[in-house]
Amino acid sequence: MILAKEFNRNRFARDSDFTISTSKPQPPTIVQFGANDPQELARASSLVAPFCSGVDLNCGCPQSWACAETLGAALMEKRELVRDMVVETRAQLRRDGWAVGKEQDMDNPKGKSVSVKIRVHKDLRKTIDFITTVLGPDQDRHIDWLTVHPRTRSTPSSTPINLEALEILTSTFGDRVPILLSGDVFALNTLPFTSPLLASTTFTTSSPPPPGPNNNNNNPLTALPKLSGVMSARAILANPALYAGYDACPWEAVSTFMNKAARAPLPHKLMLHHLSEMCSPGMGPNKAALLTKQERAAMMACTNMVDLIDFLDEKMGGIGREGDDR
Ligand SMILES: Cc1cc2nc3c(=O)[nH]c(=O)nc-3n(C[C@H](O)[C@H](O)[C@H](O)COP(=O)(O)O)c2cc1C
Repeated sequence: MILAKEFNRNRFARDSDFTISTSKPQPPTIVQFGANDPQELARASSLVAPFCSGVDLNCGCPQSWACAETLGAALMEKRELVRDMVVETRAQLRRDGWAVGKEQDMDNPKGKSVSVKIRVHKDLRKTIDFITTVLGPDQDRHIDWLTVHPRTRSTPSSTPINLEALEILTSTFGDRVPILLSGDVFALNTLPFTSPLLASTTFTTSSPPPPGPNNNNNNPLTALPKLSGVMSARAILANPALYAGYDACPWEAVSTFMNKAARAPLPHKLMLHHLSEMCSPGMGPNKAALLTKQERAAMMACTNMVDLIDFLDEKMGGIGREGDDR
């Protein structure tokens, strides 16, 4: 979440909050803002539009500092304001010459999306009212898609997502707007629901695969036929190969990360943080880890990139040698 007001006013905020690679082609990138004013969101979106595929408004951040500023989850009580922000942003992008025709402009090189990420209310009727207002008319809805994090502002992330709420929201609105799930997407082969989205996924597991989706109690899994996509936060930090169907981080992911980081360096502490996530047990049921706790401690003691590369080369080489016949 980038704060729109600061982004608009301060060159240093822009430099530190938003950097992209200049090598082409780039994967689609959605820039998410925290905002509470239509002009601020529209202006910030106008500034980033040439460098991204779309903009998103954060209505889910529960942190107290954000809510105190009427940002993030506090916006779940301000549905008209959220509607006004996305309407103004879409209008500004259109004035700037971007194509904001949603599905019609999906393949348009000038196409840009405007989307919203929400949490749910304790009383789901309020969420239904919220979405109805933000969506606007079916013939020209205000947003390209909606991401739902099915927890309330005060639900801890250790509590499982509210699948019943997601089921109701996707069946109510899923034909009118693409709905994405954010929350508890830990491994694609153990999701706590069924979805046609997963039909073509090939799974790769580094340990014996669990007996199908995440269903330990033999209850039928909730079916979500109207779900359009999933988003992962905690699990993808630990396993960036999640969407390739891996249920634990493979060494190839570490190696790809190191190659990218060598070309576009990150602060060393941030490198270590990502590597520690990738080499620890992940969020899903497969708790295989690339490094032991002691090995991770040794990695964290590397004070520079050269030591880090040597350390990981040795570990990856060791893995390779284990597999051959010597
Ligand atoms: C380190 C971290 C940073 C996050 N930053 C954002 C953010 O900037 N915007 C946002 O909408 N959600 C953010 N989230 C929340 C996630 O998008 C997501 O809704 C939540 O973590 C639940 O999904 P998960 O189970 O996949 O982690 C963040 C979560 C984590 C762990």
